[in-house]
Amino acid sequence: MKIRNTKIIIPFILLITLIFFSFTKELNEDYIAISVIVPIEIPAEVKAVLDNKCTGCHSNDAKGGKSKMKMNFDKFTNGEYSTGKTISKLGKITKQLDKGKMPPKKYLDKYPDKKLTEEENQLLVNWASEQGAILKKE
Ligand code: HEC
Repeated sequence: MKIRNTKIIIPFILLITLIFFSFTKELNEDYIAISVIVPIEIPAEVKAVLDNKCTGCHSNDAKGGKSKMKMNFDKFTNGEYSTGKTISKLGKITKQLDKGKMPPKKYLDKYPDKKLTEEENQLLVNWASEQGAILKKE
């Protein structure tokens, strides 16, 4: 009788432990998602470039619906994006800039002075990848 009981009890305890840990893990993830109202850091020199060459299309005040929806620097800075989303957007910034896709060519044909210089491009790429790495560690 005693042996039979332990045969049932041990797997039962294991099961409870498993459920408990998966639950606390979920709680932790929720906690992380909620707690990150930590606005992302944008140094003044980076902000100056973004304000001059990006936020015209990527901010609350921007006219374009699609560009605003895909990347909104206001939401980015005021903590409206979750950490996961922020990391993903930072990755996308690096990707778009590495490919020389932003600002869009059509727009640059009209406003050539909005093209990023080599230095500006590098500055934004470095900033985005550094911020991404910091967030991934947290
Ligand atoms: C003239 C408007 C305009 C300007 C200026 C502009 N963008 Fe964009 N951006 C767009 C549009 C439109 C899209 C959506 C492209 C698509 O998906 O077809 C986009 C997409 C993006 C995306 C992709 C987001 C995603 O989730 O896929 C990133 C990142 C981005 N832009 C960054 C920038 C940065 C950084 C700058 C400044 C250097 C910039 N953009 C300047 C119009 C603009």
